[in-house]
Amino acid sequence: MPEPRSPTSRGSATALLRLRPRRLRRTPALREWVAETDVEPRRLVYPVFVRPGAGRPRPVPSMPGVEQYTVGDLAGLGRALEEEGLRAVLLFGLARRKFPDGREAWARDGVVPQAVRELKRAAPGLVVTTDVCLCAYTTHGHCGVVRSGEVANDATCELLGRVAVAHAEAGADVVAPSAMMDGQVGRIRATLDEAGHEGTAVWAYSTKHASSFYGPFRDVERSTPTFGDRRSYQMDPRNGREALREMALDEAEGADLLMVKPALTSLDLLARARRRFSLPLAAFQVSGEYAMLKLAAERGIVDEVAAVQETLGAVRRAGADLVITYFARDVARRARAGR
Ligand code: PBG
Ligand code: ZN
Repeated sequence: MPEPRSPTSRGSATALLRLRPRRLRRTPALREWVAETDVEPRRLVYPVFVRPGAGRPRPVPSMPGVEQYTVGDLAGLGRALEEEGLRAVLLFGLARRKFPDGREAWARDGVVPQAVRELKRAAPGLVVTTDVCLCAYTTHGHCGVVRSGEVANDATCELLGRVAVAHAEAGADVVAPSAMMDGQVGRIRATLDEAGHEGTAVWAYSTKHASSFYGPFRDVERSTPTFGDRRSYQMDPRNGREALREMALDEAEGADLLMVKPALTSLDLLARARRRFSLPLAAFQVSGEYAMLKLAAERGIVDEVAAVQETLGAVRRAGADLVITYFARDVARRARAGR
């Protein structure tokens, strides 16, 4: 799409006064009529934390309004989400027990496979997507297996394949590998196909920056690495060309959808990726982005509703088809109430 030429290149100053963009901003009706982007509930994906065991949903202290659910809560939750107009969830499991290799992540009766089955039963209209990683399940908190002090790439890819198959067997529509291992998408695709799950889609967390905005999430998952950090596998936030290269690799490896995260620090990548790739493109407004907005709103520093619409609108404007956001339910409820 060519950008409009600068109006100063033609016409005098008086003639320019005939050009008044404010004409279309005069009334709410006009503004609604010409708005270029929407944040429709069908575009939003709601992240859901699932913990083992039973009991009431547990609030997440650093993320006001977000809760950890048990499998028993999910029938009710799934039906409520459908009723609110949402179409998709992204599941994150919490480990019963952590192991050095994170083996519970691919247990057939693990919390995520159970959650998938429950949601498919109770809310068959929802698209069920799952995060595929090991960090919530490893004793050291890294996203893969550690060999001689390093996260071993290819061995981890094999384990991620097992996790993806466990989720697919339970009925997940889409699996989303987030470990940032090289070749993880190709390896998962091949493993799914070999196991007869050709129909399960792979959603690549292509551009996952080593970000300071994942803190609240790691509190929930207790997945902060016990040594070092994730910078040997997650991407340097300073890099944009490399981000596009990651996306190109994921596309070549057979990804069905692409994702960038965090959202608000990646608007340039969304815009560039939108021009370059035809796959559905998503942005993840992550836990730290949510917490920042919530806490600023609680302190009266920003208006929550306006700030949420503004940030999600910017992500859509930049080029995201889908937005994963902890605000999904709030937005959907407002849309239903006509606000
Ligand atoms: C697991 C994973 C993380 C997030 C999504 N998948 C955490 C991390 O990489 O430390 C972040 C989500 C959020 O902050 O909301 N690899
Ligand atoms: Zn991880």
